[in-house]
Amino acid sequence: MKKVEILAIETSCDETAAAVIEDGKIVLSNIISSQVDLHQKYGGVVPEIAARAHIENIISVIASALYKAKREWAKIDAIAVTRGPGLLGSLLIGVNTARSLSYLKKRPLIAINHLEGHIYANFVSMIQDNKPKVLRSKMPTFPLLALIVSGGHTNIVYMREHLKYKIIGQTIDDAAGEAFDKAAKLLGLGYPGGPIISRFAEEGDPTAYNFPRTDLTPPPKRNDRGYLVKPKPSLNFSFSGLKTAILTEVKKCQSSVNCQLPIANLSASFQQAVIDVLIRNVARAINLYKPKTILLSGGVAANKELHYQLQKTIVDNYQGIDFFVPPLELCTDNAAMIGIAAYYKYINNRFADWRKLTPDPNLKLR
Ligand code: KG4
Ligand code: ZN
Repeated sequence: MKKVEILAIETSCDETAAAVIEDGKIVLSNIISSQVDLHQKYGGVVPEIAARAHIENIISVIASALYKAKREWAKIDAIAVTRGPGLLGSLLIGVNTARSLSYLKKRPLIAINHLEGHIYANFVSMIQDNKPKVLRSKMPTFPLLALIVSGGHTNIVYMREHLKYKIIGQTIDDAAGEAFDKAAKLLGLGYPGGPIISRFAEEGDPTAYNFPRTDLTPPPKRNDRGYLVKPKPSLNFSFSGLKTAILTEVKKCQSSVNCQLPIANLSASFQQAVIDVLIRNVARAINLYKPKTILLSGGVAANKELHYQLQKTIVDNYQGIDFFVPPLELCTDNAAMIGIAAYYKYINNRFADWRKLTPDPNLKLR
């Protein structure tokens, strides 16, 4: 049977990325041009700088992806691109490049939600590098729950089949990755905060500080007969209290002579508070939705401690439920995950119109 080869493009934030994916599971190439150096001195992504860098890089990144995959245009069956959510100026570059290629090369266009990309990173089976890496033969089975933890989003998503999403938990303020980034900034550690904090956390004591684990479950209410009724446990998240708690510690230290912030202990305690809240809500969601599989994905999935503790919770308490996390290079933003998700749209004939496709910075997962 003819293999389906998809060229995928991702420019939703600060990585210019292109990849070639075979049959929705084999990564033939995965090129990422990171802009971290450009944004580091500002302590976060500057949209205008990101858009300019995408323009400069996108053509050579696509050319490299095709070259590395050893694929001519004749072999490419479709072009996939991230339509949103993300920064408008960044998305525009990827979407318009994909539209132009779709028209010029006469290949169908597929629009992908960045978050479905993060989920589908878990459907990879092999990364064909210099030395092909077989990752797994088993695919996630439905129904499943996906915990997406990234710089912009924290969602628990229920999927009863491919491409059908129901968001059952989300953050009401900061995303998990954003909390890491803000905490790192308050501690003067630089950007992006996640990898830096997790490195310091390795040397710290996670019980040194008892940081808040916000629970958005409303308090029990009395019913008409005067009995206390427990409400359904909330699956939503709030991380802003955690940021305030870090700020309080920083201020306390700064008001003393010879302030020496215990960075390792603060990092470890902060990280543990985030992990506890994430795992608590996933456990609640498992009890409510009885899934067969749990997927972890998004930039914060690169956090080894989160990966380990969530996996252990599932193995110890929920026998028979499979747990997946993408290989490290597919956790943070990349185009391979966009190409994997696009395969499922390709086989279902769900194409976009190259004449009309526009980016949507607030695109919802549905
Ligand atoms: O998915 P991603 O690359 O971009 C978005 O879609 O937002 O996620 C980036 C986020 C950043 O907030 C970064 O601090 C966080 O992922 N991150 C981590 C780690 N590596 C990246 N957070 C915690 N631990 C890590 N090891
Ligand atoms: Zn992302």
